[in-house]
Amino acid sequence: MSAKVEGVVAPCERAPLPEVESCVIVIFGASGDLSKRKLIPALYDLFHAGCLKRNFAVLGVGQSTWSDEEFRAQMREGAEKSEDVDEFNDAKWQEFAAHLTYTTGDLTTDAIYNEVATRSEKLHEQIAPNAARNRLFYFSTPPSLAPVMVKHLGAAGLNNEEHGWSRIIIEKPFGRDLASAQSLNAEIASVFNEHQVFRIDHYLGKETVQNILVFRFGNSIFEPVWNRNYIDYVEITAAETLGIGGRAGYYEEAGALRDMVANHLLQLLALTAMEPPVAFDADSVREEKVQVFRSIRPMTPDDVTRKTVRGQYGAGTVEGQQVPAYRNEQGVKKDSNTETFVAVEFCIENWRWAGVPFYVRTGKRLADKVSEIAIHFKRTPQALFARTPEDRIEPNVIVLRIQPDEGMTVTIATKLPGMEMHAGTVHMVFNYESGFGVRTAAAYETLLLDALQGDATLFTRRDETEAEWRLITPIEEAWAQAAAPPFPNYAAGSDGPRAADELLARAGHRWRALQESHIDTQAASESVSQQTNDGAHVQAQAEEVAQA
Ligand code: BG6
Repeated sequence: MSAKVEGVVAPCERAPLPEVESCVIVIFGASGDLSKRKLIPALYDLFHAGCLKRNFAVLGVGQSTWSDEEFRAQMREGAEKSEDVDEFNDAKWQEFAAHLTYTTGDLTTDAIYNEVATRSEKLHEQIAPNAARNRLFYFSTPPSLAPVMVKHLGAAGLNNEEHGWSRIIIEKPFGRDLASAQSLNAEIASVFNEHQVFRIDHYLGKETVQNILVFRFGNSIFEPVWNRNYIDYVEITAAETLGIGGRAGYYEEAGALRDMVANHLLQLLALTAMEPPVAFDADSVREEKVQVFRSIRPMTPDDVTRKTVRGQYGAGTVEGQQVPAYRNEQGVKKDSNTETFVAVEFCIENWRWAGVPFYVRTGKRLADKVSEIAIHFKRTPQALFARTPEDRIEPNVIVLRIQPDEGMTVTIATKLPGMEMHAGTVHMVFNYESGFGVRTAAAYETLLLDALQGDATLFTRRDETEAEWRLITPIEEAWAQAAAPPFPNYAAGSDGPRAADELLARAGHRWRALQESHIDTQAASESVSQQTNDGAHVQAQAEEVAQA
């Protein structure tokens, strides 16, 4: 059990967002789910915040045969339901929706790109006839279409930057292995310059993911201990309670390793492990991340056997609901060996990290939704407090909580109140929302704004995507050669397969229970509600101190 110490800062206003230049945003795949759930809500919020003014237009291109009005109605439904939207308001929506237009088209033919060229010119004429012809193309489309689309965009002259900028945003997965990523990159490079290409990994748009850099490099107290001399191991978790929804077709091909580890989790690892960049700009930051990937030796088949675990969920109970096994999900093969859980131990062989395991895990249908990075420090060298059993003094852990309840926790040992010398653990908790009194911006909002401003810092560079696949492809290949474990090997609603615990236990380590982070956060919010939120202060509460 623990006492709590909290840091609370004065509530602050969200800083005003910059206004972006006049532009036409073309969303390819606009009748799909992403557009409705994420892209349009993000653009609506940017409009609401004043950074998109009258001089922008959105042209949706999709397979559904919708009119402009039908497109607007569909998008409205998404924005109204979206948890990302700051504040939905009918009048504001009407104003925003007037900027939305739609056309139906087959993305494998020339015709649609010629139409996009004509329509975007007309839209430019309407919104700002004398302004630059800036165009942003969002590929919200299956990965296999990307090379074809790039070629057609080039053939229609839409890559041209003579009269304004032209940028493309490409959704993950960026290829399905090293060879396909290399060939996709080469196709893109034959039509677009790298400064025009924005490979999106939405995790990089999350406020707390960006905060990893501020936390590490904006404070002088952490960096000196951020290395093998003080850190025992690092745990990176992205656990979900959701299953695969309606995405069986995609997921059967991808699996958890490609879907989550090849991008989101490796990005979290790189930000946690990288050296300080010389500046906070696109190339400096991305250069340091690539160095981390290069410091990890791709695994041999034998490494894969020892350092990876794959799992697939069976039936179980998640958040009080009975859910079916993965193999009984609609669209999934009855004998599917696709992994819905993966745990991997990565070893970064550089001066800072040699000998410190970085364990990553992700899975569907787990006990709780939580994404976090836990930095476990080494034990103190001596059991100094004779009457305190050594195991009561827990090593320090810093938890950077990506979601939900964004924030961070630091555990520290402290003397428990009383005449006798007993030590316990307290949690210093910082919660973003209660701390700052504002919600954090949705990832897509941040990333769309960055792309509109031409800032690629939070997007992955060509060599970075290839470096990621260089680590993932050998794992996929070794798994393809070996027999799959007896799936299903974890129940929906659990913390994952037992083999994942054994992976850490062999080194005397353990995963944090998935609900642990949740508990820390609850403790913080209960306590915050008892406070007068009146400025910067740190309050120590010696409540709830109990025997472990
Ligand atoms: C996506 C994956 O990239 O990230 C999904 O394709 C996953 O399978 C999602 O559910 C998780 O994102 P978030 O932001 O909810 O953690």
